[in-house]
Amino acid sequence: MQKFMVISDPHAPLQDPKAVEWVRKMLLADRYDYLIFTGDLFEAASASKFNNENIHDLEEEYEQASKFLKTVREASRGAKCVFVEGNHDFNIHAQNRLSKGVRSLVDYRNPRVFPELQNWRWGADYIADRNKGVFRIGPQLNFLHGYKTGVTSGAHQALLFGHEYSLTVTGHTHAGHGPEQVYFNKSIPMNRWYANAGTLKVLYEEWCSKHLATMNWSQGAIIGEFMPIKSQRLSRTWEARYELFQTREDYLSQ
Ligand SMILES: [Fe+2]
Ligand SMILES: [Fe+2]
Repeated sequence: MQKFMVISDPHAPLQDPKAVEWVRKMLLADRYDYLIFTGDLFEAASASKFNNENIHDLEEEYEQASKFLKTVREASRGAKCVFVEGNHDFNIHAQNRLSKGVRSLVDYRNPRVFPELQNWRWGADYIADRNKGVFRIGPQLNFLHGYKTGVTSGAHQALLFGHEYSLTVTGHTHAGHGPEQVYFNKSIPMNRWYANAGTLKVLYEEWCSKHLATMNWSQGAIIGEFMPIKSQRLSRTWEARYELFQTREDYLSQ
């Protein structure tokens, strides 16, 4: 069996140092074959379509994000480190966010701009595409940032991007949970599962209380084991769970 850990959504410079330290210790306590990062590395407020002139700049975000990636990569001690892009990261090089003439100078995919990424294998673009938009380990493990935020988003994405007996792990909603099975209807389960890696971002009241959708936000990571297979099997060849660091309620009561 091989092991993987999935972490997501630190939104640097809004990553929570306590949550990052928790991840670092978890990595040091065990050996992982894969460390998969599922996006929203940056908050990228500067590339947001909303007015935000007074928020932190990209330079600060890149500094913080680089430190974050380096910390977890070093703690993983030789795991294959995989970077999957999120919507906030994508905004930096998307059309009509930053002006075209300066885009390459600030694009984090440019090694001169953000060298730490050279230590990570590029897993998937932020694109709703079964090939380019998903990082896969064999036919039963899929990793992408996620597009939707509704209650059915996980199931929907497992159907769109997964195969039979597969687990589709996303981030994006910040509401972490372990594997849940997709149901066609109340009595017909399907051979697809989905899980969410939560967030590593701060859970301040002001960031979380505005929308009902944020009620289940938590900091954590998905941890799993799998049998390395190349061709499809007629049963699950993986196990996974959500390791919770803290919920938003825990965070606010500190
Ligand atoms: Fe996010
Ligand atoms: Fe996102």
